[in-house]
Amino acid sequence: MGDGARRAVAVLGSTGSVGVQALDLIGRFPERFEIVALAAGKNAELLARQIETHRPRLAVIEEEARRALLEPAARRARCEIVTGKEGLLAAASYPAADLVVAAVVGAAGLPPTYEALKAGKTVALANKESLVMAGALLMQTISKTGALLLPVDSEHSAVHQCLRGSRSEDVRRIVLTASGGPFRTTPIEELARVTPEQALRHPVWDMGRKISIDSATLMNKGLEVIEARWLFGLEADRLDVVLHPQSIVHSMVEMVDGSVLCQMGVPDMRAPLQYALGYPERFAGPVAAPDLAAQERLEFFTVDRRRFPSLDLAYGALREGGTAPAVLNAANEIAVSAFLSWRLDFPGIPRVVESVLRRHRPVPVTSLESVLEADAWSRGAAEEILSRGGAS
Ligand SMILES: NC(=O)c1ccc[n+]([C@@H]2O[C@H](COP(=O)([O-])OP(=O)(O)OC[C@H]3O[C@@H](n4cnc5c(N)ncnc54)[C@H](OP(=O)(O)O)[C@@H]3O)[C@@H](O)[C@H]2O)c1
Repeated sequence: MGDGARRAVAVLGSTGSVGVQALDLIGRFPERFEIVALAAGKNAELLARQIETHRPRLAVIEEEARRALLEPAARRARCEIVTGKEGLLAAASYPAADLVVAAVVGAAGLPPTYEALKAGKTVALANKESLVMAGALLMQTISKTGALLLPVDSEHSAVHQCLRGSRSEDVRRIVLTASGGPFRTTPIEELARVTPEQALRHPVWDMGRKISIDSATLMNKGLEVIEARWLFGLEADRLDVVLHPQSIVHSMVEMVDGSVLCQMGVPDMRAPLQYALGYPERFAGPVAAPDLAAQERLEFFTVDRRRFPSLDLAYGALREGGTAPAVLNAANEIAVSAFLSWRLDFPGIPRVVESVLRRHRPVPVTSLESVLEADAWSRGAAEEILSRGGAS
């Protein structure tokens, strides 16, 4: 546990975009937070620097072969090093941690998120893929262990903030905002020629590679719709998406009396991170309020479903239920990585996901193993489709 006054934090995915921003924030408030564990994938150089700065008691790197790169820093900080998947699970359930920032990217984030919730931790969840893959299982775990799940995604943080003090029967629907990504206005027939570099250039947010591509296809919003279903307990027909290119309104909640509550802020992930880290308290931090008068306009548009077919694929998987969302997620991960390595064109991403979903017969999610099995099946099916030249 922390020393009472301070919250003891484990950051999983500390070397990523969200992880680095979480550490930036935590480093500014030594009187509030203390880092007790850090876990990374491959970036041992950055993890070593983080060990020097934050002096955790535990550090985790994916591959045993990289342990030596951490040893000098770990010795100076008196920090234990563990490696591999077991290491990641150990950081997720580290007894000294009160709060776990789950910021690993993709399906690799599910086992540690599950582990942290089983251990009854407060989890600040950036890894939306966990809830997409195994929402029912994670929510059951929370009800058993009393763990607390707080969203880090700016949209869900906005909804969480709007819902404070409301009863569930007061809410008609949730409307998630989406910036529309770099191709919101690109002629549809040009999308087959866009490059990974163009797709990675998000107009508003500076994020990791996978989520940047997901934002360009709007699969990110689809995953967020599924995430919202579990976080807020609303079915698909009460979850909506609207385009809002300025990303100032982070999402909205429509009440039964026609009032719409929204949360606004500048697009800076440290704001929702700070909300989750400090919850239920608020405190002054590095993120300033938006200057609304200086904002030329705040626009809202309906999503063009033909331009962004990934969104309907996600709604479809949510309605099918069971293992379908896990299959959607895994097929998307394979398709995104194929696009990033020039093996697939941009419109090919939803085509591959759709083809895999069409082959899948969903079964109920009963355990972590059943989800991981569906995930593995989906990856195999997606690779097979890619090896035949992608779906048409
Ligand atoms: N970036 C954003 O602004 C943002 C906003 C909302 C939600 N999110 C969500 O937050 C999550 C993280 O996104 P990101 O943009 O921060 O991704 P990112 O920059 O790619 O970072 C991913 C992190 O996960 C680590 N990692 C990857 N595979 C791993 C494995 N097998 N074992 C242990 N660690 C592993 C990486 O380690 P190495 O780099 O050391 O290999 C890195 O620390 C995603 O689920 C994303 O959807 C991100």
